[in-house]
Amino acid sequence: MHANVLMVFCLIRACSAKTFDLSNSGITYFPNSVSWVVSYMKLDHNLIRHVDYIKPYPYLAIFNLHDNLLTQFPNFTNITDTLTEIYLGKNWIRYIPSQLMDILTNLTILEMSNNQLTIIPDVPGPAHTLYRLDLASNDFSDFPALSRLGRRLEDMNLANNSITEVRLGHLEQLPSLKSLDLSLNKLSSFPNLCLYAGNSVDVSLSSNPLICDRKMAYVKLAENQGILNRTDELTCVQPPHLQNTAWTDIAVSDLYDHFSDNRIELLSCHITDIANMRCTLLTVITELQTPSMVRCAMMCLSQPNCLVYAFLADTSTCTLIGADHNSDEVDGLEHLNRMFMFC
Ligand SMILES: *[C@@H]1O[C@H](CO)[C@@H](O)[C@H](O)[C@H]1NC(C)=O
Ligand SMILES: *[C@@H]1O[C@H](CO)[C@@H](O)[C@H](O)[C@H]1NC(C)=O
Ligand SMILES: *[C@@H]1O[C@H](CO)[C@@H](O)[C@H](O)[C@H]1NC(C)=O
Ligand SMILES: *[C@@H]1O[C@H](CO)[C@@H](O)[C@H](O)[C@H]1NC(C)=O
Ligand SMILES: *[C@@H]1O[C@H](CO)[C@@H](O)[C@H](O)[C@H]1NC(C)=O
Repeated sequence: MHANVLMVFCLIRACSAKTFDLSNSGITYFPNSVSWVVSYMKLDHNLIRHVDYIKPYPYLAIFNLHDNLLTQFPNFTNITDTLTEIYLGKNWIRYIPSQLMDILTNLTILEMSNNQLTIIPDVPGPAHTLYRLDLASNDFSDFPALSRLGRRLEDMNLANNSITEVRLGHLEQLPSLKSLDLSLNKLSSFPNLCLYAGNSVDVSLSSNPLICDRKMAYVKLAENQGILNRTDELTCVQPPHLQNTAWTDIAVSDLYDHFSDNRIELLSCHITDIANMRCTLLTVITELQTPSMVRCAMMCLSQPNCLVYAFLADTSTCTLIGADHNSDEVDGLEHLNRMFMFC
């Protein structure tokens, strides 16, 4: 009877947000006597160590226990339908059991910054709704594999972890990505975003130990196209002579010099052979930038023995036309309407 009265009240008031707010209250236990109409449970900045159970709350949408002393991810079984936002940053959580993640079928935001996570379960449960994932200041050393969970992800924060490598394949798992914070990690390079098929992504790579060699050349080549912004934040730790140079003061040719590995050393010889040609053509790119031209350049630069590719303006295709680096001559030029070469 009591429940029916409340239900009527709830319908009349259109279940306007009912906030239960005991944040900053020094409480040490998770309260279990909260009104069942609660939609926002605000218990951040307390000293709660355990969430033993959570009663069914048919309207609970936001669960905020940011900055507490939890060591375990709570079992949200009783509120999986309605729960959309979880804030559990600044706790002591080491892992999220996959069953407990998979049941969160209406989750849009998961904030887990400042915990001790090393992996995140790649489960399909929240995949249709999850668009923001905050994993900053955890213990990730590998970029998380998110082939299931990442389908709708737009905003991912992995700042201040220990990630050493991001591959294009990782990004291909995140087709909706718009913002990716990878500042304060251990990345020495970053995959060529010209080859990423999704939206343009706002990537932060500040405070990473970047090796400024040809793998990063696309950033220069694609400048002014908004493919990788915030380049003023980039810092090179290698090669030594670029260590204290601002990215904006580094020329494309700097990125081809002083390589450490032999294969690239060889490439730099080829480049020296046709240096004038390369310079001319880089000027063309600057004047006539289009994403497909840049992709064409990237295809070439990602080859171990960078041969000459041509961009056919009429068919918008990229073709290997063959080059003899010793004689500085390129075959097949007469068949092309317009061409742009790299290397
Ligand atoms: C779900 O709610 C029931 C009934 O209040 C409770 O006994 C149970 O412990 C809850 N389960 C969890 C996982 O919180
Ligand atoms: C979560 O709670 C449900 C219901 O109380 C229980 O069946 C399930 O085993 C719990 N899951 C975990 C991982 O503890
Ligand atoms: C899922 O969340 C949305 C709000 O983001 C809400 O409108 C909807 O009712 C929720 N789904 C269920 C089954 O409660
Ligand atoms: C980075 O994370 C560590 C803990 O992992 C934390 O102590 C430090 O304050 C964080 N730094 C920043 C700038 O967030
Ligand atoms: C980069 O900046 C340009 C100009 O401000 C903007 O149009 C573009 O969308 C940005 N790109 C990304 C990936 O954020």
